[in-house]
Amino acid sequence: MMHNERKAELRVRSIKNGTVIDHITAGNALNVLKILGIAGGTKAIVSVVMNVPSKRSASGRKDIVKIEDRELIPEEVDKIALIAPQATINIIRDYEVAQKNPVVWPDVISYIVKCPNLNCISNSNEPVFSKFKVLDSFVLRCVYCESIIDKDIAAYLI
Ligand code: CTP
Ligand code: ZN
Repeated sequence: MMHNERKAELRVRSIKNGTVIDHITAGNALNVLKILGIAGGTKAIVSVVMNVPSKRSASGRKDIVKIEDRELIPEEVDKIALIAPQATINIIRDYEVAQKNPVVWPDVISYIVKCPNLNCISNSNEPVFSKFKVLDSFVLRCVYCESIIDKDIAAYLI
């Protein structure tokens, strides 16, 4: 690890138990909080670091979110994959990194993203939930109306 990266980590103390979402695409920490339902208020202890140096990232910057005493469920991890495909999910138990999982880009996304086409059956009163085929990084195609979402996915998160 580069010297300035180590210094960046020290901006926020280590946690005893919980989840560290690391290598978040810089600028997306607040979207991650939104996905986790934390933006609107929480009792959890949450630390956010934005725009710290990162050798691994193309922009040279990353965001980090640390949530104490909470481990993420798979649906939350899928959502994070959509906006921060380089992120790693570190599960911390008794100060140790017990698990380190890259987020996995899913094949199909259901429920969590809204179709941009207001006439789509998934936006009607029919009991049809949104469903997208994941074509490529950052490109989703609605299975019902074939609408494409290829930018600003965070804006379509339900
Ligand atoms: N971390 C933490 N509290 C702990 C242990 C780790 O907040 N008790 C954080 C570290 O600051 C880092 C992340 O969890 O942001 C992953 O920790 P670690 O695997 O030790 O760091 P790296 O080796 O730099 O991870 P990577 O190779 O994924 O960059
Ligand atoms: Zn649609």
